[in-house]
Amino acid sequence: MTKVGILVGSLRKESFSKKLAANVETLFPEGYVTEFIEIDLSLYNQDYDDENRVPAEYTAFRNKMKEIDAVLFVTPEYNRSVPAVLKNALDVGSRPYGASIWNGKPAAIISQSPSRLSGLGANHHLRQSLVFLNLPVLQQPEAYIGFVADLLDENGKVKDEGTVKFLQSFVNAFVDFIKKNHA
Ligand code: FNR
Repeated sequence: MTKVGILVGSLRKESFSKKLAANVETLFPEGYVTEFIEIDLSLYNQDYDDENRVPAEYTAFRNKMKEIDAVLFVTPEYNRSVPAVLKNALDVGSRPYGASIWNGKPAAIISQSPSRLSGLGANHHLRQSLVFLNLPVLQQPEAYIGFVADLLDENGKVKDEGTVKFLQSFVNAFVDFIKKNHA
């Protein structure tokens, strides 16, 4: 069984990113399990690299991520970049130096926005960090979901058929990519 961890760049209860992620989770084939990874991490502080000062939630998050084979990021854009909650999770997972939990995990990114611009800035800033952290990242298809509010019904289900088809093709490409890149 291949485990795909889903990391969402929004803590908001009614988050469109969370709703989108819940739709995408249903599109993985047999042999894959998805897990929504809760991000509840205090702000990274390098003092916490001291083994006597590691916050309990850092240890829990790092241990959880070690069980995960591949990572799907679903994120909004904040001020043309990656929301701090997601960047903080990347930073926490990357330390202490030499013990990064990200190394070699295949990844894919979906960005979304209620507006036309679709989170392109967040999507690409996130890619920049993932290159450094040595996660092979799915390049095509890119997933920029714009006007997200119009695509969801009152239960948070994607109601637009074209978008469902696109998300399915995205997941299929990601699954192929995981097969080729999983260590
Ligand atoms: C935003 N929003 C936003 N949208 C966008 O397309 N580009 C941007 O740069 C920003 N910047 C931004 C900054 C901050 C601090 C907030 C709170 C919001 C709007 C954002 O896309 C919208 O609130 C989404 O609904 C957030 O995603 P979730 O929480 O619904 O997943």
